[in-house]
This record gives sequence, structure tokens and C-alpha cells, in this order.
Amino acid sequence: MITKKRYIDKFSVKGQVCVITGGGGLLGWKHAEAILEGDGIPVLLDISQSSLDKVERALKSDYGLDIEIKIFVVDITDRNALEQVRDILLREYGRIDVLINNAANNPKVEGGSKNLGAIQFVNFPVGMWNQDIAVGLTGALLCSQVFGEVMERQHSGVVLNISSDYGLISPDQRVYRKDGLPDNQQVVKPVSYSVVKHGIIGLTKYLAVYWADKGIRVNTLCPASLHNGQEEDFVKKLSNLVPLGRMSEPEEYVCTILYMISNCAPYMTGATVVCDGGRTVW
Ligand SMILES: NC(=O)c1ccc[n+]([C@@H]2O[C@H](COP(=O)([O-])OP(=O)(O)OC[C@H]3O[C@@H](n4cnc5c(N)ncnc54)[C@H](O)[C@@H]3O)[C@@H](O)[C@H]2O)c1
Repeated sequence: MITKKRYIDKFSVKGQVCVITGGGGLLGWKHAEAILEGDGIPVLLDISQSSLDKVERALKSDYGLDIEIKIFVVDITDRNALEQVRDILLREYGRIDVLINNAANNPKVEGGSKNLGAIQFVNFPVGMWNQDIAVGLTGALLCSQVFGEVMERQHSGVVLNISSDYGLISPDQRVYRKDGLPDNQQVVKPVSYSVVKHGIIGLTKYLAVYWADKGIRVNTLCPASLHNGQEEDFVKKLSNLVPLGRMSEPEEYVCTILYMISNCAPYMTGATVVCDGGRTVW
């Protein structure tokens, strides 16, 4: 008979208010599943109402109609809008426990040259650069300020920043190339994506130290190579760059997310956790 408290019980965020930016997207949905698995309350922020509705429907269908979940249509580059969300959450729950800075412009360049994000470096428009930085870095900064202030007052909280393998290494542009197209029509992963994903690791390290004595842990997760209906040729080329020999599925991060935000990892702060099938060590 086990009398000791079991370590497995630490995989719990029971009753905790957990904000996820970009909650209507591919990974945001799975982060919400991690929170529900830990009995927490997911609070999904996204600019797209229809994406949020879709994720809410899916979560209710999988976890039950009576789950507690909040959705807010909000632009995370708008500080006032974030403060309104914060005030609503404080009125309802009196606390905010977890922030997952997940939203970023994530151009699917493997879709081909029709994709607007895929523009050769020398012509990459400053407007697009500014927009990508605004969502991926300024949005993360503002959310950390607005929700982090509550965590400072509580003297407890967890911030989890979502980076990428491209926060550690450069994109291998060869996987995005299309046979038969001249160089000036080839699509590339935009420079802003690399800069945002590297920058988010810098934000993590800064805040981990800044908040070390405030009971707030701050870490980065680097997911990689997500399978999302890409063409067979692309999947093959990318899989060849990964020691595990395949792309990843969104479900494969759920347990890591729950581990990082829960009390399983009380001594982890400032860390970069890499789940990339080994790509960055090859
Ligand atoms: N998909 C991948 O292959 C992959 C790989 C590594 C890392 N990542 C990272 O994971 C995170 C999530 O990626 P994803 O694939 O789920 O992307 P996604 O595009 O499916 O989701 C991003 C969500 O952010 C929302 N969003 C955009 N701008 C916003 C704003 N101003 N305010 C609020 N919400 C906004 C979008 O509407 C979208 O629902 C990103 O940070 C991405 O860089 C993704």
C-alpha cells in the first residue's frame, strides 16, 4: 500500500486560472487540453472568434459540456484589451496562475509562393517584420506585464513561453524549395520568425531572473516540425532532418506542457526545453 504522497499527483493545476494566447490555434488547443488534464481552467485568448469557437466545441466534446473554460476575442498587442481580460478574471476568480505565451504569426511557407509570409530576404517588407514582432514579441511582453503583475502580487505564478527549434537553429531553407522554380520565386521561412523565436528565449531568461524572488517561474518550450497536412514531398524532406525520422503531432507536447506549468517542476526556471525529435543535435 502506498502511504506516501504520490509524485504523479503533482501533475495537477487544479482550479488554477491558466491563460493561453493564440488559444484558437493548432497548439493552443492542445495546451488547453493539458490544462484540462490537470483539472485547471483554460482561458483562451485569440483574435479569431471562429477559431476560439471551434476549439471550445472540440474541448467540450472531448472533456464534457460542463468543463470550465473561458474564451476572449482579444488582440494581444492591445494592452487595454488585455487589462480588461485581467480585470474580468480577477473579478471572477481573484487570481491568475499560469500564462502561456503561445501566439505568433506562424507562416506556413510550405504552402507555396501564394503564402504572403514567404518573401525573399532582400525584399522582406518592414511592415510584415513589424507585425510579426508585434504579435510574437510585443504581445508576449504585454501579456507578461499585465498578467505578471497579478502573479507578482500573489507571489506565485508560472509563465511558459513557446519558442521553436527555429529559436535555436536557422531554418534549412532547402526544405521549402520547389523544384523548377527560379531562385527569386522560391519561398523562404521569413527572417522575422527566427528573430521572434530567438527573442522569446531572451524574454524567458530575463524574466526568470527578474522574478526569481517573486515566486514566478518562467521557462521556454521549443516544439518543432508539426505535422499539419503538409505535402508529402515536404514531409519527406523535413523528416530527413530529424533523427527520429518523422514530424511531430500536436498531442506530443501535452504532457510536457503540464509538467512545465505544474508543481512537477518547482526548481525549473529560465530553462529551454527542447522537443524536436533530435533535430537540433544532429
Ligand atoms: N506549428 C508548428 O510547426 C510550430 C513549430 C514550432 C513552434 N511553433 C510555435 O507554436 C506556437 C503556436 O503555433 P501554431 O502552429 O499553433 O500556430 P497557429 O497559427 O495555429 O495559432 C496561432 C494563433 O494565434 C492567433 N493570433 C495571431 N495574432 C494574434 C493576436 N494579435 N492576438 C491574439 N491571437 C493572435 C491566431 O489567430 C492563431 O489562432 C507559435 O508560437 C509557433 O511559433 C509552432
